[in-house]
Amino acid sequence: MNPIFPSILSSHFYDLETKLHSFASCGIEVIHLDVMDGHFVPNLSFGPAIIRDIKAIVPYKVDTHLMVSNPLRVVPWFIEAGSDWISIHIEIKAQIDDCVALIKAAGKKAGLVLNPDTPVHEVFPYLDQIDYILLMSVFPGYGGQGFITESIARIYALRKEIDCQKANCLLQVDGGINQLNAKNIVEAGADLIVVGSALYGTENIAVCVENLLRAFGEKK
Ligand code: DX5
Ligand code: ZN
Repeated sequence: MNPIFPSILSSHFYDLETKLHSFASCGIEVIHLDVMDGHFVPNLSFGPAIIRDIKAIVPYKVDTHLMVSNPLRVVPWFIEAGSDWISIHIEIKAQIDDCVALIKAAGKKAGLVLNPDTPVHEVFPYLDQIDYILLMSVFPGYGGQGFITESIARIYALRKEIDCQKANCLLQVDGGINQLNAKNIVEAGADLIVVGSALYGTENIAVCVENLLRAFGEKK
């Protein structure tokens, strides 16, 4: 699988279709969608309609990152809309088991997201139940923020635990990733990277994707 998941949060919506088509020619397979409810994070983004629209025009799988306070209410909407991967934040605590069960029962990939200030060990008990961890390397809410360098040690720690448990769980990292820092992130143990503004701010998406892929070397 192509390990680069573009986030469309930094896209101008009038330009979205063009951008989506250009990703396809670069071998992108999964698009990352940031859903924000204005409560769990201080921003609002979009809902399930955009997933339906995207799936109607391009062949991508959709990875839906739910930054919402009440995921149990909305997970069924995104399953119905066609999300293929769905992640919920571990900080919401109460609904985790029910949400993961719902997502898995629908045959989708279930992920748990950790904010930069959430101890990594909180996800350890779930590693045999989920398909991926999403480690935030910025505080969620906005694209275009700088990568929090302390995330590197957290990636190493998660990688070590995933390998130690022999868990079938991918490690995805999201926030502030670009052509310069991708190699360190992958070397620390990331399997997948979400890239937003670095892909939108570039003149040449194909070259940017190529450079990001180089960070994976033989690993991809
Ligand atoms: C932040 C989102 C990220 C973000 C990534 O809340 O979860 O997916 O859009 O964008 P960049 O790469 O610009 O940090
Ligand atoms: Zn995200």
